[in-house]
Amino acid sequence: MKFLCLIFLLPHLLNASLSWLSIAKNTNLNFAPNSTQKQICDQLIGWTSVQKKFCYEHFDFMDLVYKAAKTTLSECETQFKSRRWNCSTSHSPNIFNRLPESGLREASFIYALSSAALTYTITSACSEGKLAGCSCDKSKQRPIRAGYQWSGCSDNIAYGMAVAENFLDPRIKNKLNLLIVNLHNFETGRKLIEKNMNKQCKCHGVSGSCEIKTCWRSMPSFSVIGTKLKEKYDAAVQVDIEKRVNKQRIIPRNRALKKLSKSDLIYIKNSPDFCRPNPRLASYGTKDRICNKTSRGIDSCDLLCCGRPYVTQLEVVTYKCNCTFKWCCSVTCKECKKIQEVTRCR
Ligand SMILES: *[C@@H]1O[C@H](CO)[C@@H](O)[C@H](O)[C@H]1NC(C)=O
Ligand SMILES: *[C@@H]1O[C@H](CO)[C@@H](O)[C@H](O)[C@H]1NC(C)=O
Ligand SMILES: *[C@@H]1O[C@H](CO)[C@@H](O)[C@H](O)[C@H]1NC(C)=O
Ligand SMILES: *[C@@H]1O[C@H](CO)[C@@H](O)[C@H](O)[C@H]1NC(C)=O
Repeated sequence: MKFLCLIFLLPHLLNASLSWLSIAKNTNLNFAPNSTQKQICDQLIGWTSVQKKFCYEHFDFMDLVYKAAKTTLSECETQFKSRRWNCSTSHSPNIFNRLPESGLREASFIYALSSAALTYTITSACSEGKLAGCSCDKSKQRPIRAGYQWSGCSDNIAYGMAVAENFLDPRIKNKLNLLIVNLHNFETGRKLIEKNMNKQCKCHGVSGSCEIKTCWRSMPSFSVIGTKLKEKYDAAVQVDIEKRVNKQRIIPRNRALKKLSKSDLIYIKNSPDFCRPNPRLASYGTKDRICNKTSRGIDSCDLLCCGRPYVTQLEVVTYKCNCTFKWCCSVTCKECKKIQEVTRCR
């Protein structure tokens, strides 16, 4: 009986570390107007018991976790918009059958992206003074040389990384191969933000002279992170897990390859071609997808339609127009319509 349970639990356990993204599908966190915080936490589908405990204890973080999940899904869609696998989760209220299976290259991208988004969101909130428990990073305060100093208010990336790790990384002793890979990719995502912090400086002094310069480190915009991770996806390394006496080691499948780096994305299984629907692999096929007749790249009709025919027809297309900036800080747009030639895969 115990054995049976384990079999049923296993896939859930493996995917557990992405299931928290389901929070992105809740329009807000007030499921029922009078729910207690605990009731709200308990309603979060697919969350591990550790994550639910995190929710009980740090309820003030939940808005940020929600924001990070949203950011993950929308950045993923942006990065993969014109590829066969387009990361779209928007059609389904239940995102679990929209996430690629653990171990695939596409999954490794989402693992790293979600971990990066969580680190990013929490670090930003900390810098904006929205979190009681943290403040900007003052560790680099000593002057480096005369007339040049760290102002002492860098983004507190260490804090963001620690919270993200605490929330995401399951603490399991006997790690299954897939879990080892997922944990590696989580870390890749967090480290990528740390690596891409920029130094920013400001001059002080009489009438614009730069007698004193104060500097601090801040994160780039999240789309920079998304783009860098996409490059890592393209260069991802297929690996095997080698068992040593009581240690497991990650080694590149292609033994001729350079040594694996902590900053590489890694995966185990080969991806399908995503030409045909296969829900188990989060493949939805490319029928009806819009392709580009003149492109020679990944969005070209030949590649996107997998060699199948495609048709060009006139369609009414809606787009955002006449956008105005409202003080402060939102942009409102109108919806305009135009008739346009659109090519779709058959
Ligand atoms: C929710 O709480 C408010 C006041 O706290 C009360 O007036 C209202 O009847 C409650 N609604 C439900 C559905 O319990
Ligand atoms: C992504 O692919 C799905 C399934 O083929 C499709 O329904 C959806 O419109 C696509 N999204 C975009 C932005 O092209
Ligand atoms: C289609 O591809 C061409 C060539 O790469 C490019 O110039 C054009 O902007 C693309 N059209 C769309 C709608 O993306
Ligand atoms: C957008 O603005 C243009 C010029 O200001 C105007 O002619 C057009 O009617 C506007 N469109 C909509 C949908 O409001």
